[in-house]
Amino acid sequence: MKFFADTADTAEIADLAETGLLDGVTTNPSLIKKSGRDIIEVTKEICGLTDGPVSAEVVALDHAGMMKEAEILRKIADNVCIKVPLTIDGLKTCKALTSDGSMVNVTLCFSANQALLAAKAGASFISPFVGRHDDNGFDGMSLIEDIRLIYDNYGFDTEILVASIRHGIHVLEAARIGADVITAPPSVIKGLFKHVLTDKGMEAFLKDWADTGQAIG
Ligand code: E4P
Repeated sequence: MKFFADTADTAEIADLAETGLLDGVTTNPSLIKKSGRDIIEVTKEICGLTDGPVSAEVVALDHAGMMKEAEILRKIADNVCIKVPLTIDGLKTCKALTSDGSMVNVTLCFSANQALLAAKAGASFISPFVGRHDDNGFDGMSLIEDIRLIYDNYGFDTEILVASIRHGIHVLEAARIGADVITAPPSVIKGLFKHVLTDKGMEAFLKDWADTGQAIG
């Protein structure tokens, strides 16, 4: 399973890249706002921090406007993945861009039928938002199960990119279901390293080691 960082914070991305765990990055207009930086400038910097796909989102609502913005965004770097919303115009744009060899991430997916449409439009990635689904009284993970089943039934290549991840259990469930990618805030990815018994074990080993009076090297 691939790990994408859901952030436009370049310091956090560089830090995660050093672990060797980073397979790509996703951004959205809210994350660009949070970074306080120009979308072109920050996306270019992020593309230099990972070889994996870096999603940059269009904000036009119509197909022509989305294509115009996508042209600008895809010139930033070869690893830019154009993010489009799950609307009729978004999927028209998805079809046009993927037919032309660009990567496309279809975002704001909240139903398995929407995911089916995105796959038929040739999406490289579909982004179902599990956290926001849960927040609204739905079961985000059953959505992922449905999409996995449907994509496997028909042999679609579209990768399931589980988005709006809130905690480690979402990551675990996504891995159990066989999702292709998760995108999560760096804090959630870093949280996966943690276990209270790892900390306790380290503490005990270090205490015993100090008692030996030895040093390595
Ligand atoms: C995905 O690409 C989105 O940027 C993101 O996962 C949305 O997450 P949120 O619901 O925490 O804003």
